[in-house]
Amino acid sequence: MNLPNLSDARVRTKDKSIIKRDDYVVPSSVKDIGRNKYYHILTYGCQMNVHDSENIGAIMEDMKYTRVDDMDKADVIVINTCAIRENAHNKVMGMLGRIKHLREIRPDIITIFCGCMAQEEGISKELKDNYKWVDIVMGTHNIHKLPLYMEELVNNKKQEIEVFSIEGDIIEGIPVKRDSKYKAWVNIMYGCDKFCTYCIVPYTRGKQRSRLPEDIINEVNELVKSGYKEVTLLGQNVNAYGKDLDINYNMANLLEDVSKTNIPRIRFVTSHPWDFTEEMINVISKCDNIMPYIHLPIQSGSNRILKLMNRRYTKEEYITLFNKLREYMPNCSISTDIIVGFPGETSKDFKETLDVVNELKFDLAYTFIYSPREGTPASNMKDDTTLEEKKDRLSKLNKLVNKYALLNNKKYKNKIVDVLIEGESDKNGKYMGYTDTMKLVNVSCDKKYVGSIVKVKITDVKTWSMDGVVVDD
Ligand code: SAH
Ligand code: SF4
Ligand code: F3S
Repeated sequence: MNLPNLSDARVRTKDKSIIKRDDYVVPSSVKDIGRNKYYHILTYGCQMNVHDSENIGAIMEDMKYTRVDDMDKADVIVINTCAIRENAHNKVMGMLGRIKHLREIRPDIITIFCGCMAQEEGISKELKDNYKWVDIVMGTHNIHKLPLYMEELVNNKKQEIEVFSIEGDIIEGIPVKRDSKYKAWVNIMYGCDKFCTYCIVPYTRGKQRSRLPEDIINEVNELVKSGYKEVTLLGQNVNAYGKDLDINYNMANLLEDVSKTNIPRIRFVTSHPWDFTEEMINVISKCDNIMPYIHLPIQSGSNRILKLMNRRYTKEEYITLFNKLREYMPNCSISTDIIVGFPGETSKDFKETLDVVNELKFDLAYTFIYSPREGTPASNMKDDTTLEEKKDRLSKLNKLVNKYALLNNKKYKNKIVDVLIEGESDKNGKYMGYTDTMKLVNVSCDKKYVGSIVKVKITDVKTWSMDGVVVDD
């Protein structure tokens, strides 16, 4: 058993990350244990977690388990958790209640708890003390060891908890079963060293560590060979890519090299304004297959709050960067993240956030009420704004954000845009996909277009989506 702890999770040394290429093994005793059995994965949180679940799915299939969409039919239930806010946490605890109930009917169900919540000291201890029926608890650093934990479980029939509070290594060679045949997630780096004062990620995911460029390019080349149309390069802070490597190679270099693979579409998330260089903007604007869409979290429009958040930029610096992006790429869409109700946020601070939204008119903004996370510096800051007031701020902000989302979408009416058709839409008989600029479009077209990038004429626009018809028949 190995439990996580907060003080180790905080540590950052100057040590270089180690790349491990042979650490994923499936012992012969579990190579077949999943034959005629089913697994179900529940995924919470960000794209990183979605991609981890694609790895976990492949690992389960290496043990011959078959995926099932209906949780009630599963022999193994994997719950891949997120710790970013309290409500993510509550959803997971509610789901554990449901799984417990299922187990009362079928006691042989195996439950695996993983992801960022497992990395929390309090949660893993709670699972150990009060959720003995959860069979395996593993953290974000060791999903590749799942077959070994399955072996232990078969042999010992008791709860297996292994969560490491370490800076972390780079594990290559974990198999992946991708959810889509057209769009793929590709990790370019793990962890985060920014330590924004509200955020738990640096504690749950370890230090910033970049994969080697050749490993990334090889992965993208394989995807091109398999017919993939789009890759999204993943990291908590992708612009800092390469800073921890010994070679002189940065995000701009990586983008240029990924562009040369000729994959039709390249996206990347998430960009921190701090590391966004002019060199990067140059590359993005000159390479046609790098999509003109940037997710650039601002978090707040108040310099006082940005400082308390340890975001390392001022509102003015953010605006300068935003304008530069628009100058190089006039049609580029820009979305953001905003937190309201950070400890000590006054109505004046909040008004500054509204002002900056009015000035920049984001294409989209993901908005959140600040949620204290245990162990982060902000959770000890004085917070005397009531929840009611915070909810009121959120609703005012959302109104404004939605207004600009619609206004930006209106520019698309009657325009012809490229859409990668991904599959059926939940709108009757239509197909869905995204534009270069990441606008969701419900398209009236034939099924044969699924998996292709097609020209679509936009016939109607709403706040969250658009409607269109294929024009290049
Ligand atoms: N690495 C990304 C963000 C990852 S978390 C970045 O730095 O931009 C995604 C978003 O969740 C953050 O941008 C922030 O807006 C929000 N978030 C993170 N911690 C939060 C907290 N404690 N309470 C509320 N929102 C939070
Ligand atoms: Fe969290 Fe900040 Fe790192 Fe983003 S950059 S993951 S918000 S600590
Ligand atoms: Fe959540 Fe962990 Fe992602 S906390 S947002 S799943 S990095």
